Amino acid sequence: MGHAALPVFYNVDPSHVRKQTGSYAQAFAKHGGVYKEQMEKVIKWREALTELHGVNMPRYPWTDGPEYITQCPIQPGSKFSQKIILSSEEGTIWWHAHSDWTRATVHGAIIVYPKNGTKYPFHKPNAEFLIILGQWWKSDVNAVRDEGLATGADPNASDALLINGQPGDLYPCSKSSTFKLTVDHGKTYLLRIINAALHEALFFAIAKHKMTVVGTDGSYTKPLTRDYITIFPGQTYNVLLEANQRPDHYYMAAITYSVAPKYRNFYDNTTTTAIVQYRGYYTPSSPPSMPHLPAYNDTNASVQVMASLRSLANAEHPCNVPLSTSTNLIYTVSVNTYPCINDSCAGANGTRFSSSINNISFHSPTIDILEAYYYNISGVYGDKFPSVPPLVFDFTADYLPLVYELPSSATEVRVLEYNSTVEIVLQGTTVVSGTHHPMHLHGHSFYVVGWGFGNFDENRDPLRYNLVDPPLQNTISVPSKGWVAIRFEASNPGVWFMHCHVERHLTWGMETAFIVKNGKHPEAQMLPPPSDMPPC
Ligand code: C2O
Ligand code: CU
Repeated sequence: MGHAALPVFYNVDPSHVRKQTGSYAQAFAKHGGVYKEQMEKVIKWREALTELHGVNMPRYPWTDGPEYITQCPIQPGSKFSQKIILSSEEGTIWWHAHSDWTRATVHGAIIVYPKNGTKYPFHKPNAEFLIILGQWWKSDVNAVRDEGLATGADPNASDALLINGQPGDLYPCSKSSTFKLTVDHGKTYLLRIINAALHEALFFAIAKHKMTVVGTDGSYTKPLTRDYITIFPGQTYNVLLEANQRPDHYYMAAITYSVAPKYRNFYDNTTTTAIVQYRGYYTPSSPPSMPHLPAYNDTNASVQVMASLRSLANAEHPCNVPLSTSTNLIYTVSVNTYPCINDSCAGANGTRFSSSINNISFHSPTIDILEAYYYNISGVYGDKFPSVPPLVFDFTADYLPLVYELPSSATEVRVLEYNSTVEIVLQGTTVVSGTHHPMHLHGHSFYVVGWGFGNFDENRDPLRYNLVDPPLQNTISVPSKGWVAIRFEASNPGVWFMHCHVERHLTWGMETAFIVKNGKHPEAQMLPPPSDMPPC
């Protein structure tokens, strides 16, 4: 394996706005933020474009990042200043490229410390470490993507999963560079864990040690002590690790969760490892002990963190979940297949894969939606994105009506009134799917008020919502045979992307956008664009 540097991280105080200037190529070269040799390939192909994942960017969607949603791609050799504006985020968030599949290697953490004069809402750790779960690709990721699109098949898997840029000891060729986290017995460490993999939901654990989750995405949570966590692409967890075991070295490890049969090898099913090593004199056990991880297809295990996560909901970290909602939407999220006619298709049973929300597969426009909205350019998008009526079908039955299996293709968004209170029930369907759908919303964090397996029941399920201490997140895993209900106040005017963070689902069309209208007050209106917006 080649050289891989640790990802960059920026330390930001939430009360400040920082500017990152220069081309991303320069920034990355300077900080060694990506796996170099791959980065060069990516840069030759197209300049990276960055999203500030989970940064809410109040009133300023202009530098939010997703291509053809809020801006056009930054062309090779050109520059664009990416302004970061935080609102209430704290803990660990991240940034990544949002153009094609470049985010595979172009990503890093943004760490938001408590405001000056305030403390962590948990015992102060002795030290902090960043753990970025990623992937090694021998091929150019965009070539993998293009090949998948050309054949209609699942794209190839990566060549290894990584912890901080290293595949770990199970790959003898790179064993000498396995990531090591050195600890002192008796101390407590804060691990900031990010899943930056393209498609893989990951089980993660540390041998003989428990982890206490104290935060997710951009907010803190009530402590939740676990033997393992499940982390979906796009999510972050802050966990406390107590070095309270016999001084030795121990493996931490991650594997993919997938309900697809193992032989359908589009998920990386390797195990990546790193080492937690106690300082001191002792004879280390050989090999270090491996953590116990759930079986790769253990769906029950995959929902355990989601089932128990709660927000702090106290005076310093109040819960502002809307108790009632003015806009109620039901969106189905599906992976679909197209029959192949006059075409050579290499997907399941000779079909071509597609994805959709409410049976509409998102068609990317050629100028960004934000610009079209702001300057009133017609013909770029439609604003008739539908909400499905509840309980029409059993969406998780084995067969759906044909009309639900063949999506149409369109560029449709939904318009939200400023300050409307929104509930979205995201209903997974079983048309085809090997995993849950980590649905991510830009511009707003949302409260996860309920979830379940099977079809959402509009009469029964809302009665069980958690409106007391639901977690505040920006990426939530919708079970492929289940549903999740989220609530937020549409208080951020602009254009905001919502999509599945499984990259191939995004490529196939599992996305849409919201336009949040301006409020009356000048303070409730979008700010004007910067002068250096990249042209289309
Ligand atoms: Cu982390 Cu739109 O993505
Ligand atoms: Cu998905």
